[in-house]
Amino acid sequence: MSWDNLAFVAFPYISLTTFTVGHAYRYIADPFHWNSRSSEILEKDRLQYASVLFHYGIVFTFLGHFAGLLVPQSFLTSLGITPAIHMRIAVFSGMIFGLSALVGAGLLLRRRLKHIRVFRHSSKNDVATIGLLTFVIALGTYNVFFSHCNVLDTVAPWIRSILILSPDPGLMASVPFTYRLHIVAALALLGLSPFSRLIHIWSVPVPYLFRSHIVFRKRQAE
Ligand code: HEM
Repeated sequence: MSWDNLAFVAFPYISLTTFTVGHAYRYIADPFHWNSRSSEILEKDRLQYASVLFHYGIVFTFLGHFAGLLVPQSFLTSLGITPAIHMRIAVFSGMIFGLSALVGAGLLLRRRLKHIRVFRHSSKNDVATIGLLTFVIALGTYNVFFSHCNVLDTVAPWIRSILILSPDPGLMASVPFTYRLHIVAALALLGLSPFSRLIHIWSVPVPYLFRSHIVFRKRQAE
């Protein structure tokens, strides 16, 4: 098997299978540890701005990846979004949100390694997860700023070919090394995520936005 077949056919399916089966297994077998394992109680000041920068950046970057890579360009063109406009939006938003996620992830990693109480309560899994996340985001942000590639005719149709079970690794042949590494590292993170604190992503507290207010009142003197 060639390296391209391994990286862009076998590995994506291994990663997606581990991702799906792993989440189902973890949800059923280990429901009481399904949380973000927040370290806020150990240190709050640095976490506040690092976590906010990171989460805004990563959530919008995720949405951008979905909209930009999974929706076929022919559909976007029918809405008046030409490939040139699509690329301009992708690069501009990637620069802003990618940078925000990168600075936030770097600060979270630094806090985890340098703050003694946080470090002592961190598992190897915690450090590896934030380390790998920072690596994936750093490569993605580097690509947006310095290594341009026509992803609409290469990476985007390749991802769709994987999802419709008709993989075409040939589409990845002309893609630069830093994009390929970003994709392989992101697939590794995807496969490992059910066994890390990243499971909390699937517990977006949407009902929180719609629940009625809780009214706190002072106890009246009798
Ligand atoms: C879907 C919306 C999300 C919600 C509501 C959410 C919520 C939270 C909460 C409450 C914490 C614990 C407090 C904190 O550290 O800030 C946390 C931590 C964390 N989240 Fe999220 N998160 C979301 C999405 C994501 C995504 C998409 C990623 C990465 C792919 C991510 C990665 C992390 C990491 C690595 C930590 C640990 C930070 C640390 O303590 O060093 N989160 N998240």
